[in-house]
Amino acid sequence: MVSDMERHASYPIPTIGSILAPILERHGFAVTSLLQMLREVQERFGYLHPDAITCLSEQLRIPRVKIEGVATFYSFLYLQPRGEYRVLFSDNITDHMLGSTALMEQMCQQLWVEPGKVAEDGLVSIATTSCTGMCDQGPALLVNNFAINRLSPERINSICELIRKRVPLSAWPGEFFSIEDHIRRRDILLGSGFESGSALSALLQRGTAETLQEIKNSKLRGRGGAGFSTGSKWEFCRAAAGTQHYVVCNADEGEPGTFKDRVLLKAYADQVFEGMTLCARIIGARKGFLYLRGEYRYLLDHLQNVLQQRRENRLLGRSILGCAGFDFDIEIHLGAGAYVCGEESALIESLEGKRGTPRNRPPFPVTNGYLDQPTVVNNVETFAASSLIALRGGDWYAAIGTATSSGTKILSVSGDCERPGIYEYPFGVTVAQVLADCGAHDTQAVQVSGASGVCVAPAEFTRCIAFEDIPTAGAFMVFDHSRDMFEVARNFVHFFAHESCGFCTPCRVGTRLLQNMMDKLARGNGSPYDFGEIEKLNQLLRSMSHCGLGHAACNPVLDTIAKFRPAYDKRMKHQEFEPAFDLDYALSQARQMTGRDDAGAHLGENE
Ligand SMILES: Cc1cc2nc3c(=O)[nH]c(=O)nc-3n(C[C@H](O)[C@H](O)[C@H](O)COP(=O)(O)O)c2cc1C
Ligand code: SF4
Repeated sequence: MVSDMERHASYPIPTIGSILAPILERHGFAVTSLLQMLREVQERFGYLHPDAITCLSEQLRIPRVKIEGVATFYSFLYLQPRGEYRVLFSDNITDHMLGSTALMEQMCQQLWVEPGKVAEDGLVSIATTSCTGMCDQGPALLVNNFAINRLSPERINSICELIRKRVPLSAWPGEFFSIEDHIRRRDILLGSGFESGSALSALLQRGTAETLQEIKNSKLRGRGGAGFSTGSKWEFCRAAAGTQHYVVCNADEGEPGTFKDRVLLKAYADQVFEGMTLCARIIGARKGFLYLRGEYRYLLDHLQNVLQQRRENRLLGRSILGCAGFDFDIEIHLGAGAYVCGEESALIESLEGKRGTPRNRPPFPVTNGYLDQPTVVNNVETFAASSLIALRGGDWYAAIGTATSSGTKILSVSGDCERPGIYEYPFGVTVAQVLADCGAHDTQAVQVSGASGVCVAPAEFTRCIAFEDIPTAGAFMVFDHSRDMFEVARNFVHFFAHESCGFCTPCRVGTRLLQNMMDKLARGNGSPYDFGEIEKLNQLLRSMSHCGLGHAACNPVLDTIAKFRPAYDKRMKHQEFEPAFDLDYALSQARQMTGRDDAGAHLGENE
């Protein structure tokens, strides 16, 4: 049997072998940790060096092509060198509203680099990324995976200076990286003063089956969007046959405009981990995972510290709270920039070290999840709420909110309002109430539940946040009358086209066609004919897509056409059909490259 060190010694480039050895050892040479290893390799080299891939392939005994297949799926992993400083500007509509486009141009000019490219000297690369979950304190960017918020022209100047001088990130001013919680309204969950270990003590006193009954009595529904009954999910998983059961906390929080899980993980991590541990006891799991989106890399050390503290307090590990056989621990896996990994089956694939492609369902994760074993996947907020229920009882919880939406919901409020941040309300709160509380004026629209959610017009502000009226995973983006709702919808459509994982053709092609159509409308080449085309695309995406991303991709366009039609009509310069492909526009890049913009370089003039 060849020892690990001998295996490394046989590797042709000892430096890479010796750098990778501790990474491989830390992950026990487990292929399921491939994504984690790739992230760490990239943190070390700045990109996935081909020799590092060869080394991983040899050591893990998997083909290179498989590793490259995984790497190319995630937008934060690079097979080609990027800049020493990799800057990614958050591309959400709220960042745009706060001036991110001009700030990115400023940085590109100051550092002599084109957007999307690497500077000739390899110092810096600048590009965009989907919403980084900092909408309450944008505009935001990531530099080498760490978030910097509240960007201003002055801050951009300072960042450029630091980059030019090659100052290591660890020596940048601390305030650049400070991220506020902005908790504006607390209710039962955020205001509970939860004591670490209290819910587990209640569980052990009451009994496992009885605690499950409390969760069921509470009528708690998942906070990740779909609203499935948490008690039923745990019960199905508990009853499912398997060699191991698993608990997974979905902290991928990629829906544009959502950032409440970021705050829960920062300020209420104990309560979230306690909820996972309760679930473990109920379903019989010994292992759990927190899948943390790559954009929240800055939370990793804090979360590891909370886990360690819980181990020391006997709230994790063997014989939790002295109860023989109650063994459970939690591992953190970092994502790498793929929104679709928030979909639970894609998340499980990613946890297994693969591309995050959604699985066929059924079977569902409760019977066939992580490593094909029974697995509960719940949102961060769902676990935090379940701790409270174990402590205070199901009936107490069910009495809050509405008949079909029990308890409270945490909203991530951003956009045109005086006090963006986190607001917790009992279900049933009206849109108007939230707008009044956050200091919104002259509101034209609210996008509830992110890009895949609902666009609510003023006539509907009396509607309620609840599963039976306006369901939401948490985003609440406010737009006043100065905003162009067509551009809001166009931003979301670009998001879906960028984030489509490409697995199924209707979504891969459909989201791209939708993006082309919106871009064509933006250039003034649209006609009423396009509305019919969008409706046809919607039917295709709804009926033929493999997962929720494709199903929801047309929502923002259909909603804004129905409610903000003038924003589209003013762009309709033609009544007759205009093809989506605009040859003159397509030639604009060639004109730019050749430095020509005379009449002869334009199609119309030569016809
Ligand atoms: C494209 C897509 C992205 C999703 N992103 C998230 C996410 O970031 N966080 C989350 O909790 N659920 C997300 N979901 C829902 C999950 O698939 C799943 O329903 C949820 O994690 C279950 O937890 P819950 O029952 O506590 O809501 C997403 C679903 C889809 C289709
Ligand atoms: S619908 Fe889109 S995101 Fe979902 S699996 Fe298909 S291609 Fe991927």
